[in-house]
Amino acid sequence: MIPLAPAPEAVETGVGDVLLWGVLPYVVLAVVVGGSIWRYRYDQFGWTTRSSQLYESRILRIASPLFHFGILAVLAGHIMGLLIPASWTAAVGVTEGMYHFLALSIGTVAGVGTLLGIVLLIWRRRTTGPVFMATTKNDKFMYVMLVAALLTGLATTAISVFDHSVPDYRQTVSPWFRSIWILQPDVAAMAGAGPSFKLHVLWALGLFAVWPFTRLVHAFTAPVHYLFRPYIVYRSRDAGSSAHLAPVRRGWEPVGTRDRARGTTRAPERRGSRSAGRR
Ligand code: HEM
Repeated sequence: MIPLAPAPEAVETGVGDVLLWGVLPYVVLAVVVGGSIWRYRYDQFGWTTRSSQLYESRILRIASPLFHFGILAVLAGHIMGLLIPASWTAAVGVTEGMYHFLALSIGTVAGVGTLLGIVLLIWRRRTTGPVFMATTKNDKFMYVMLVAALLTGLATTAISVFDHSVPDYRQTVSPWFRSIWILQPDVAAMAGAGPSFKLHVLWALGLFAVWPFTRLVHAFTAPVHYLFRPYIVYRSRDAGSSAHLAPVRRGWEPVGTRDRARGTTRAPERRGSRSAGRR
């Protein structure tokens, strides 16, 4: 059984605490929202992972899912730990001891898996020539921020296991995190958290602030449209095809082009394009 962390003692808060835990989160929120809108408006073609799969796929096939599934599990753990109050889990019979045992075991596996994934991805990037050539300074900075967020997160967990004097994050970090969203930041709660938690949260805020300006921006989008869009026509059927005589279904009407308007396109290319596929 894991010994429980003590509840935080009442803490005095100063201007520094107010700036860090009462003002900074909203500045970061404004940068994330404003930065994403700016990026979408002015750099839509750069809103991408800049995939390097074409250069190397053997290591990527293992490292990428390891990192992405790992980070999704870490995210799920954070949603549980930060958004669900301890009183709710207690109400359904989950004791603090059970909760922390689960958080520690599942969280550590997820965190270490994610770290291993990103270490492999960075190693691949460094050792595969074309992938390294395609790596920008912005990418390198992003990797530092991301890896440090992961390391400080894992450190908080490790330190809480060995140092039982660190206040329980469900009494400090979590209430503070929830209070942000109701616009009543509980500065005192966060001021009472252990130094390792403060460092981790500050680093995470830094990561969020640079998020829209790095490749990480791709995480804000999923190719849902891909499932519903019409097929892309990428080659014509043979010239003798009579497919152009088939009735055109609603929503599948040919798109107007200048050639079509001028009537200069050869017949089979103009109307008989039925071979199609999702690309
Ligand atoms: C404001 C945002 C964040 C807050 C308030 C926060 C808070 C916490 C807390 C309280 C823990 C301890 C959990 C435990 O020991 O059971 C933790 C662990 C951890 N955090 Fe964060 N975190 C934030 C953002 C992030 C980000 C952005 C990352 C990674 C990119 C991250 C990665 C980790 C990792 C890897 C752990 C170790 C345990 C696990 O895998 O869940 N955190 N975080």
